[in-house]
Amino acid sequence: MTYILAIDQGTTSSRAILFDSGMKIAATAQQEFPQHFPASGWVEHDPEDIWTTVLTTCRKAMVKANVNASNIAGIGITNQRETTVVWDRHTGECIYNAIVWQDRRTSDFCRDLKDKGHEAEVTARTGLLLDPYFSGTKIKWILDNVEGARNRAMAGNLLFGTIDSFLIWRLTGGTVHATDATNASRTLLYDIHQGAWSDTLCDLLDVPITMLPEVKDCAADFGATRPDHLGGAIPILGVAGDQQAATIGQACFAPGMMKSTYGTGCFALLNTGSTAVTSNNRLLTTVAYQFEGQPTYALEGAIFIAGAVVQWLRDGLQIISSAEDTQALAASADPSQDLILVPAFTGLGAPYWAPDCRGAIFGLTRNSGSAEMSRAALESVGFQTRDLIEAMQADWGTSSDTVLRVDGGMTASDWTMQFLSDIIGAPVDRPEVLESTAVGAAWLAGMRAGIYPEKDSFSKSWALERRFEPAMEETSRASRYAAWKRAVQATLAV
Ligand code: G3P
Repeated sequence: MTYILAIDQGTTSSRAILFDSGMKIAATAQQEFPQHFPASGWVEHDPEDIWTTVLTTCRKAMVKANVNASNIAGIGITNQRETTVVWDRHTGECIYNAIVWQDRRTSDFCRDLKDKGHEAEVTARTGLLLDPYFSGTKIKWILDNVEGARNRAMAGNLLFGTIDSFLIWRLTGGTVHATDATNASRTLLYDIHQGAWSDTLCDLLDVPITMLPEVKDCAADFGATRPDHLGGAIPILGVAGDQQAATIGQACFAPGMMKSTYGTGCFALLNTGSTAVTSNNRLLTTVAYQFEGQPTYALEGAIFIAGAVVQWLRDGLQIISSAEDTQALAASADPSQDLILVPAFTGLGAPYWAPDCRGAIFGLTRNSGSAEMSRAALESVGFQTRDLIEAMQADWGTSSDTVLRVDGGMTASDWTMQFLSDIIGAPVDRPEVLESTAVGAAWLAGMRAGIYPEKDSFSKSWALERRFEPAMEETSRASRYAAWKRAVQATLAV
């Protein structure tokens, strides 16, 4: 039997998933690692934790499935995007912690660039906005704040990578410095129309272009693992940022197809084909995937808090003991109470882009309790998704046959998926395999290795587990969404 190993390096855990030659999961291993919050709005990971959890989980999955390196035809890497690592090209040592995508420390610098009128040009080239979310300003921060870093970078001794690139470097024993077009498109330094790093943007953000990795297709040769890491030289054949990998895993290959992944945050991507659609509604334009040098683009809406709101109920408020309790509590909530939670814990992402805004709750009464809070938390995910879909429809043209393919941990909750369908007023399709991100990464590597089918037959293998149809009255849908919009406006005004 031949296998493909998918590495899914996420925000809170690293996972390794072995797929067999029929694309069925043979073994998985997962390990969480610590989150560091050194100051308000700062979020860091220790890159050594990332590296060791990746190695450990890969080895564990291989042991579980009784598979050795010679049985693995290829590795596919998918990763938390934008998170920024800078390391020494000679020693491989990271010069600072990984600055995580959620980190807001560069918001003043972004505001300053905006005030100087740079956003239009940045958006025109990258499809992104001037927000601390993306890698470019995080690289600059490291170069400006770690002693001696800028000189070392100017002398060509430091390298930058998003997590995929860092892992490729480590896995190949420091022989390959590469990334793929999807990860590159999240840096603020990559011109998505030219398909190249932009000198102009490197100058604007003060990042030496020599630090940046080579950009490749999503299915390409990214080198092979150093034999001592996983017991043999395994080729790395697929790379995509996790949201793009989920788009691939959900087989959203036709223009107009849309997926939404509910992890820590929620990220909705609408395939726009070979056209990079410029958003008039504060969405991002990004590379969905790239094969044979040809990018396919997507409009993306990014929400920073989705699954994290349930974590907050559990670990912050401590009103539930496990995430699974939330839907039963939500279902038991008093229907006469209309609590609205705006979970702007780390600001608001699309379409508001308000990094300094913080969360709020509206409609509290003496009878509001854990059930009502749980319902408001789950509903906030649906309301935020509707914000994204409204913006996408405005950018892409209205469509009456919108269907949303969903994946990620929260989609296991029927209650949440029914509310989502109700509030967006469109069907929500939950696939049989909820591991879309890992499937996408595995497919890229397996297709490149020649053991998995080409795109069209892979698309046909996508299987529906359940479709949720909207059941809410149109008047309720409209009034509930209007209440959400008012709550967001009030939150933004504080
Ligand atoms: O853009 C950030 C995103 O890639 C993080 O995804 O699943 O690690 O929360 P996740």
